[in-house]
Amino acid sequence: MTIPTAPNSETVLEVNNLKTYFFLETGAVRAVDGVDLTLRRRQTLGIVGESGCGKSITAMSIMRLIQSPPGKIVDGQVILFRRGQSQAVDLVSLDARGPEMRSIRGAEIAMVFQEPMTSLNPLYTVGRQIAESVELHQGVSRREAMARALEMLRKVQISDPEQRLNEYPHQMSGGMRQRVMIALALSCNPSILIADEPTTALDVTVQAQILDLMRQLQTDFDSSIILITHNLGIVSQLADHVAVMYLGKVVEYAEVRDVFHRPMHPYTVGLLNSVPVFGKKSGRVLVSIQGMVPSPTEIIQGCAFAARCPRVKDVCRREQPTLHETMPGHDVACWLY
Ligand SMILES: Nc1ncnc2c1ncn2[C@@H]1O[C@H](COP(=O)(O)OP(=O)(O)OP(=O)(O)O)[C@@H](O)[C@H]1O
Ligand SMILES: [Mg+2]
Repeated sequence: MTIPTAPNSETVLEVNNLKTYFFLETGAVRAVDGVDLTLRRRQTLGIVGESGCGKSITAMSIMRLIQSPPGKIVDGQVILFRRGQSQAVDLVSLDARGPEMRSIRGAEIAMVFQEPMTSLNPLYTVGRQIAESVELHQGVSRREAMARALEMLRKVQISDPEQRLNEYPHQMSGGMRQRVMIALALSCNPSILIADEPTTALDVTVQAQILDLMRQLQTDFDSSIILITHNLGIVSQLADHVAVMYLGKVVEYAEVRDVFHRPMHPYTVGLLNSVPVFGKKSGRVLVSIQGMVPSPTEIIQGCAFAARCPRVKDVCRREQPTLHETMPGHDVACWLY
């Protein structure tokens, strides 16, 4: 299959109709069920949505880290437009464990995982872990790789970096481990960084430091970021574009100011209403969205949000809306538009 070159040269990653299912005895879990995303050069794409809507599985699918069985990418494309190469590659078509995917993973697309202890090896010092990744991807000597590891610990503002290099993950605080994760992810200068809830486990001050750091590193390294988070405040500060996910699908995609100031999908409106607005004494009250998210094993006719939607119409229960451009640069999957 031939893959087009980037539709515009600013696109670095394009996810088309991605579907990742888990085949369990109880049925198929449609964790990701037709996701479309576009990531542009030097930009941050925020992905938001309630727990279980498929954010992490989308990220793991892009990285080709879905455990199979029971998981499987059943459809779609993840097209990577590589730096300095005219030909794009569909990551879904590659062998997840093959040499090409291994050279892309870590070096061109790196990920900071939701749970740092699952990706840091407890048996190795943090210095060794970073150095090994640098050695593997950049073919430098152990000594050079160690020097690079030290430089990365400095970049993520870990105090006493020489000392920390020789420590094990469990000797560090949560905030420090998260910094190590970021150092590890950025050590090979990837063009794309996927950060899955990079600050959720941290207290507010450390959270702010890590976010500043990511912003700084993005400029230093010229990378594009996919930022997955529950925290809409963080998205409003860091993201250029936002994709709102609901039950395995993107239901709204636009520039960050449009999503916050002109949300169109009733689910997005609900999400925005369910967070307190900082700096406002009164005004918006905390409202949560009524009803429950349906199970991803359930086959739903029509819109998956229909049962919870305050503006539901007849057609919503019959037919599934598809994501399309409703206003310039603003995509929505909703029958209201
Ligand atoms: N290994 C697995 N086997 C079966 N189902 C899975 C597996 N991993 C994830 N799922 C299901 O896939 C769906 C999407 O999960 P995912 O982890 O992507 O959610 P999320 O949006 O990242 O949620 P959170 O905000 O809580 O991190 C959920 O219904 C989850 O239960
Ligand atoms: Mg998750």
